[in-house]
Amino acid sequence: MVSVAILGAAGGIGQPLSLLMKLNAGVTKLHLYDIVNVPGVAADISHVATNAEVQSFLGAGQLAAAVTKIDLAIIPAGVPRKPGMTRDDLFKINAGIVKTLVEAIAAHSPQAFIAVISNPVNSTVPIAAEVLKAKGVFDPRRLFGVTTLDVVRASRFARDLRPGVDAAALRVPVVGGHSGTTIVPLLSLASTRLGLSDEETEELTTRIQFGGDEVVKAKDGAGSATLSMAYAGARFADSLIRAINGDAVVEPAFIALAADPDGAKEVRGLGAGDLDYFAVPVELGPRGVQRIAQLGGAPTAFERKAIAVAAEALAANIKTGAAFVAG
Ligand code: APR
Repeated sequence: MVSVAILGAAGGIGQPLSLLMKLNAGVTKLHLYDIVNVPGVAADISHVATNAEVQSFLGAGQLAAAVTKIDLAIIPAGVPRKPGMTRDDLFKINAGIVKTLVEAIAAHSPQAFIAVISNPVNSTVPIAAEVLKAKGVFDPRRLFGVTTLDVVRASRFARDLRPGVDAAALRVPVVGGHSGTTIVPLLSLASTRLGLSDEETEELTTRIQFGGDEVVKAKDGAGSATLSMAYAGARFADSLIRAINGDAVVEPAFIALAADPDGAKEVRGLGAGDLDYFAVPVELGPRGVQRIAQLGGAPTAFERKAIAVAAEALAANIKTGAAFVAG
């Protein structure tokens, strides 16, 4: 039985994510925190007939209470990417928000699992790690960047090409990071053989890497993915809650490779260089990351090349995150 705080609960991702967590039978307490609008969201969701108790926390003055006695904090707070906004603009705002929120978690629930959704995840996860290290409470097994949406998109887009595939059951290992070419779907290692030509592999890889842009464009200025992201965040949280309760679960996530030094060696052998963070399928257990899961085969030459491209950009993203905390 798990107490969950959602930080940024009144947002486009936060609202549907809060609703989905209210429906999760493993959740006993749901703390909804935001700097605006959250009392209404919490009152509304609190009427849904499940046993989870919903509490609202509004504004910085209630942040400490929002993150006290929680087992899991999910962080979708921030500003969404809008057309015309540079990655730098987005980074500075969200980096500051994530830093503040993780400082509060470190102070009031240092044992909590933390799932970061706020973008750019390639940098916000290193920011969270640096904050936790500075407070002396960093456990790499408990910190995650949520990359489930990349796997969700990979499964769904694969079905667009191969209508015989069950999108809900298909698993594609996606490694690397969580934006653009740092996202590397290992389509050759999908749980169902897709039988893709080289051209199809290239097209599908690009579609998965830039899937978020399809939503940004279609929303025409109104923001980025919210509903599919909420679904992905809830799926990740459900896996983690089941793992906390003793089930063996494999879920992809962007993690600090220090969580599994042996597995990290293998990951680095894929061409990831000496990166400290990487998205990988992870075996979860009661204490979080148990080990990096086996990929079930060797990536193709195309995939290894994509990993090398991803690794270079990722190294820069990770450095930017760490430098933000160092000031
Ligand atoms: N503390 C808590 N919540 C905050 C803070 C803060 N300091 N600053 C902003 N928020 C809240 C906003 O009030 C809003 O309710 O975060 C929420 C963000 O919601 P939206 O603006 O609708 O953005 P959304 O589409 O949900 O995306 C949020 O997730 O995928 C990423 O790139 C996306 O980083 C962005 C984040």
